[in-house]
Amino acid sequence: MSLDIVILAAGQGTRMRSSIPKVLHPVAGKSMLGHVLDTARTLRPDSIQVVIGHGAELVRERLQAEDLTFVMQNEQLGTGHAVAQAIPHLKADQVMILYGDVPLIQQETLVRLLAQSAENCLGLLTVSLSDPTGYGRILRNENGEVQAIVEQKDASSEQRKICEGNTGILVAPRVKLCEWLARLSNNNAQGEYYLTDVIAMAVADGLRVATEQPASQQEVQGANDRIQLAELERHYQGQAARALMQQGVTLRDPQRLDVRGEVQVGRDILIDVNVILEGCVVIEDDVQIGPNCVIKNSTLRRGSTVKANSHLEGAELGEGSDCGPYARLRPGAVLGAKAHVGNFVEIKNARLGTGSKAGHLSYLGDAQIGDNCNIGAGTITCNYDGANKWQTVLGDDVFIGSNNSLVAPVSLGDGATTGAGSTISQEVPAAALGVGRAKQRNITGWKRPEKHKK
Ligand code: UD1
Ligand code: CA
Repeated sequence: MSLDIVILAAGQGTRMRSSIPKVLHPVAGKSMLGHVLDTARTLRPDSIQVVIGHGAELVRERLQAEDLTFVMQNEQLGTGHAVAQAIPHLKADQVMILYGDVPLIQQETLVRLLAQSAENCLGLLTVSLSDPTGYGRILRNENGEVQAIVEQKDASSEQRKICEGNTGILVAPRVKLCEWLARLSNNNAQGEYYLTDVIAMAVADGLRVATEQPASQQEVQGANDRIQLAELERHYQGQAARALMQQGVTLRDPQRLDVRGEVQVGRDILIDVNVILEGCVVIEDDVQIGPNCVIKNSTLRRGSTVKANSHLEGAELGEGSDCGPYARLRPGAVLGAKAHVGNFVEIKNARLGTGSKAGHLSYLGDAQIGDNCNIGAGTITCNYDGANKWQTVLGDDVFIGSNNSLVAPVSLGDGATTGAGSTISQEVPAAALGVGRAKQRNITGWKRPEKHKK
């Protein structure tokens, strides 16, 4: 059966106390609405309609994609009114309603809900709550069949004792749903057009209301303020940490890891505390990551090590290589197998060949460094002339003395050596020694300056 998905994202979210719309606030580095969209896409629907209102332009700008239709709801007159705005765009047999501020809903749960959907059936996701305050309550008859939903503010004190809450997520046959929406009234405690009123209409029309429940309450939890946002973040991170451990990763403390993207892992990986993994991170077998590292869009090959306080973005660590503590690898930094990068070394758009070393205090940018090279402490590639960037190219077995300036474009042949403190602005041929520094002279009997007397 074909499926349209409608995502409600028009609300203001006053309690966020924010200048950006609620649905753009991030969980695990991705906007709440972004999570819902990604999950919706996994269901391969025929269309996705996003109902926007508050901050509409910003939402549209941030999430624009070919497979989305944005529908304006100029006034927020209730959830039923919100869904009704999408009616002209709906064509499929079934319509699923999701919420832009309920980010952790899982694909499996929605698949189960969809399995219930049929021409003469409405699928409703409900949740058992220890404290149902604020939720619409599910009213069932003596046979346990759902009859209606009553909102908290319209509920009698007896109805408020019901602990089965409405998540708001449902799947309904489109033609029927559109008929019901057209008949909604706002004659209720909040003066709103309630989507929830369609349940009683479905029952009156002889449809069966089938319910499913999520695997956890957090899955259907909305974030109305930053406290709830943080709760969802922690739940997400707890799940992410568990998933990694199940795949063979040792986490020194599962509560001190943050995953903000997609992580692919091998086995026998060790991750110390306060590590942040962002974007697409690939970690192969036997990798060790020390404490306080940020690793974004990077690949760590088998047996490589990232030592404490290192920051990697767009980097690749070869097999058995290591970096840090305090290494900074920027986009295009590639370490060959067994390469070594030590403390306070910054690498950008540069490749260090197999077994090459840059142990201390260097900047290597726009450089090709061969195998088994040694880069002395304090070496800088002068890659930028104020207008353009230039390459520094080193062959294999090159030894750069300490505190060199390699003024690009420049190249050094295999086995070349440079003297400490050199400024190298011309080619050093293979096996030659390049020295580019002022000759030392000594002035004997030198008198040091004296302090002025007051
Ligand atoms: C709604 C349900 C309630 C359910 C609860 C779960 C209704 C009438 N009630 O109540 O049964 O237990 O969610 O959290 O549906 N929105 C719009 N446009 C509007 C109104 C709302 O886009 O005109 C969006 C909001 O931004 C929000 C979502 O719909 O993301 C839910 O709206 P909200 O007003 O928070 O509904 P609740 O009162 O929580
Ligand atoms: Ca709500």
